Amino acid sequence: MDLLNLLLVMTLQSKALYNEAAYIPPQCYTQTIDSQNRVYNPCFTCHQDSIAPNYNNDADLQHSYAFPEYALTNHWTNLFKDRSQEIAAISDAEILAYIRTDNYKVLIDKLSNNDQWDGFVPDCYFNFDAEGFDRDTAGNYTGWRAFAYYPFPGTFWPANGSTDDVIIRLSPEFQQNDNGEFDLQIYKLNLAIVEALIKRQDGVVDLDKIVYDWAPLQKRYMSYVGKAKQKKLAAGLFPLGTEFLHSVRYIDIDEQNNIKMAARMKELRYARKASWRNYGQLEDLALDKIKEKDDFPDRLDQIIGNMEHGVSNKQGWILQGFIENAQGDLRPQTYEEHVFCVGCHSNLGATTDSMFAYARKLPGEKAWYHWNQKGLKKLPEPPNNEYSLYLEKNGAGDEFRANVEIIEAFFKEDGSLKQDMLNKLHNDISLLLYPSPARALQLNKAYRVIVKEQSFKEGRDATITPPKNVHQQIEEDLKF
Ligand code: HEC
Ligand code: HEC
Repeated sequence: MDLLNLLLVMTLQSKALYNEAAYIPPQCYTQTIDSQNRVYNPCFTCHQDSIAPNYNNDADLQHSYAFPEYALTNHWTNLFKDRSQEIAAISDAEILAYIRTDNYKVLIDKLSNNDQWDGFVPDCYFNFDAEGFDRDTAGNYTGWRAFAYYPFPGTFWPANGSTDDVIIRLSPEFQQNDNGEFDLQIYKLNLAIVEALIKRQDGVVDLDKIVYDWAPLQKRYMSYVGKAKQKKLAAGLFPLGTEFLHSVRYIDIDEQNNIKMAARMKELRYARKASWRNYGQLEDLALDKIKEKDDFPDRLDQIIGNMEHGVSNKQGWILQGFIENAQGDLRPQTYEEHVFCVGCHSNLGATTDSMFAYARKLPGEKAWYHWNQKGLKKLPEPPNNEYSLYLEKNGAGDEFRANVEIIEAFFKEDGSLKQDMLNKLHNDISLLLYPSPARALQLNKAYRVIVKEQSFKEGRDATITPPKNVHQQIEEDLKF
């Protein structure tokens, strides 16, 4: 029996948890005040006032360590380990060979040939055409489409550990004309309509063009087009059946010393909107949560799901993930590893219908491409210079203020920002988001050590030495 089978049999139903609060991520334990009483706020990116139908107004958590009793102890113990020695023992050649080996195709083979596996089988070829559409080996459309987005501030920047991508697919009806035939123009238009709804923005879809091309829309009521015309539609919500793929990868370096995505995936993450929740239902869910917190502040969230089918976020989405085993092959994540997914993808003010990247998609028709086709170099800052603002509020480029490379590049000795660097950043975010090649190698090695240990339940952050600005324990007086 190979390892995947063994794991399946042993742990498919396992609900044992090492960290019962695994849905609360490590970032929440950042020390926000330093010895000189200077305040840092890395919290606002996630915890913020929300826009309906996201009712998780959680801006108050920017200033609070009001954790349930159990979570006052930081269970992300990987943060407290010094990995310098193990990292030094891995050569550059060894890690480069490792991260340049593809582990995705093997996963598909394994899952497709496994009778016991009833969960998601990835079916994206990562073979994107000039419009970002994924094609199978025969050149057919798989429905997946890659897009460029502004990476979420902090942990998710390559500079802080991983490269990643996000790919979307709408359900088949959204790809078809009235007769149920695949129609690329219809599909493109439906993707643009979803973008307009998610960003609540006019101008994403050229309405005049739709009226001209698609007679049914002449009355200018808003609907999807083609076979999906009757499908439920609402601002701030994805249509039923929407899927996302998110590959989290090591950091590779090309011959010109440019940063790029590695072939090897650290994780493959997946989400599917399996049921529709309207505004009223979503509001009820949020109100229930507030009441529960009020009545039982120390009760932990209960997460429904398992290793095979992923976990539910209660708001209509199923989340599922694969992660490397000790040898580097992707395997299904355990129940506990899945619990990690749910906090960020359900209870934050920052998300749009529990998801992050589509609302942050670069504007325009040209933004449909995969980072492998074009990287972050020379890409200007997001609207309102969001990254500059992040640096200013957070006083660093990562939550724990442990990324010295960014601090040295962007901050003066007294902690203020270097204006000339901000000016450059406005026109090229790669100056901030990409690590140096040397740091990239260190980050890769640090994570490789965690993979060998399989200690993901203690945290997945690629830390080399323990970051200083993290609470191991939240003292009672800090709680509110
Ligand atoms: C990357 C996103 C992210 C960042 C950054 C972040 N948090 Fe959180 N936080 C979460 C998630 C996810 C949860 C769990 C879901 C929930 O209950 O809100 C959470 C939960 C909490 C909770 C427990 C809330 C409860 O009701 O159980 C507190 C307190 C908290 N965060 C404080 C902070 C503070 C303070 C900061 C900044 C130092 C911070 N967080 C930064 C994502 C984040
Ligand atoms: C600490 C918060 C956090 C946790 C934990 C987390 N995610 Fe995400 N997820 C994000 C962010 C932020 C993005 C956007 C990526 C970016 O901007 O680089 C994202 C993107 C995604 C996407 C693409 C759709 C979207 O939201 O844009 C999927 C699918 C996804 N995550 C699934 C998962 C799964 C499965 C897990 C658990 C294995 C997980 N996530 C854990 C924060 C989180």
